[in-house]
Amino acid sequence: MNLPYAEPYKTKMVEYIKPSTIEERKQWIKEADYNLFNLTSEKVFIDLLTDSGTGAMSDKQWAEMMVGDESYAGSQSFLKLKETVKRITGFDYFLPTHQGRAAENVLFSVLVKEGDVIPGNSHFDTTKGHIEFRKASTLDCTIDEAFNTTVYHPFKGNVNIEKLETALKNNPKNNIPFVIVTVTCNSAGGQPVSMQNIKEVSKICKKYHIPLIIDAARFAENAYFIKIREDRYKEATIKEIVKEFFSYADGMTMSAKKDGLVNMGGFIALNDEEVYKKATVYNIMFEGFITYGGLNGRDMGALAVGLDEATEFDYLETRIKQVAYLGTQLVEFGVPVQQPFGGHAIFLDANKFVPTIPRDEFRAQALAIELYIVGGIRGVEIGTILADRDPFTHKNRYPELELVRLAIPRRTYSLNHMKYIASVIKEIYATRSEAKRGYRIIEEAPIMRHFTVKLEKI
Ligand code: F0G
Repeated sequence: MNLPYAEPYKTKMVEYIKPSTIEERKQWIKEADYNLFNLTSEKVFIDLLTDSGTGAMSDKQWAEMMVGDESYAGSQSFLKLKETVKRITGFDYFLPTHQGRAAENVLFSVLVKEGDVIPGNSHFDTTKGHIEFRKASTLDCTIDEAFNTTVYHPFKGNVNIEKLETALKNNPKNNIPFVIVTVTCNSAGGQPVSMQNIKEVSKICKKYHIPLIIDAARFAENAYFIKIREDRYKEATIKEIVKEFFSYADGMTMSAKKDGLVNMGGFIALNDEEVYKKATVYNIMFEGFITYGGLNGRDMGALAVGLDEATEFDYLETRIKQVAYLGTQLVEFGVPVQQPFGGHAIFLDANKFVPTIPRDEFRAQALAIELYIVGGIRGVEIGTILADRDPFTHKNRYPELELVRLAIPRRTYSLNHMKYIASVIKEIYATRSEAKRGYRIIEEAPIMRHFTVKLEKI
């Protein structure tokens, strides 16, 4: 019998969200300098800005909050989390941090120096930011298929092995502190990396004696795709897949706000005791003592439970199928979206959606603003604004893709919300040829400008 899927949970508490009118939203977005990050949450009806820290915790996680051990040193909640991280990832050494970029900051303080090159699949912006801040650079070795939104490839997050090997061969070994692979690959559209690929990356890294680090924010969603799309793993449990995946790496940085199913948290996990020892010094300086790292005891407890819940198949199946439901509706309406659909988000292809808006007028941002005005939906631009300026030439970098990301928070919105979002986009798509002009920047920060950029309508 082929029964339809249904969420393996029910609602115990609700949070009201506030509808508003198009006229109100036009005014609000203008007051926000056309930057969606500047909107206060009550001005947003459906918030798809990010899937980071925006999910709903379970009753078991809330129960764990009540028994959190708030001891400065040696907290029981820390020990619970350390044990869970070891059991799920296999890594021996563990440092909590307050979120993912803090883990990057601590680990890169140990490993990255001026002039270094860090190859990987498309690096996330904070990862790139922390590398460039140290006057080092990233090298994107993602497979070419990732940059064509319509071509089907089951693992568009994969690393191109030849590109990687060329990078490792052509750079002095002491300028490549590690290779970083992001799963799922957020900047390539939430696309997964296959087990086969990570194995090959690991082999090349070992050949050149370069450590392999996983940026693991969405490691459980990645494991789901491996189970579904990589034949050899269809009988394996998510936890088995996760364990094998991490076994090919030397360490990980984690933003627990995604697949940790918590609102705040992160960590570093490693095999190398020496690197761990050096990292503890920075952790104490930047984050707090090594048994809390910027987190409350109760947060560490909730994260321990969240990691176990996120690595259960039934949860992942409904999670990823909800995202795909939105994608499928959009495809039915003829809307250009990245395919196959990402694990945590649907990406509108603004180059195809609004090619009438010039690229230097930030067409993906213009589309994201339209979505807000028409439907009160807050997505985020993953395009030229996010790509920032080249740190050396200070020219705008034009990425291959101009996307609007609709990130779906975990266990938060219903299928009815997905229907609403799809209908709003259908309306906008019907009038797309009228869109001619975009926006110009009137103020921007020297790094990670997208958070605070101010724009005006052209
Ligand atoms: N790595 C990846 C792949 C991420 O997606 C993020 C955050 C980070 C690292 C940094 O983690 O936010 O906990 O400091 N991504 C969020 C997003 C912000 O919206 O995709 P953080």
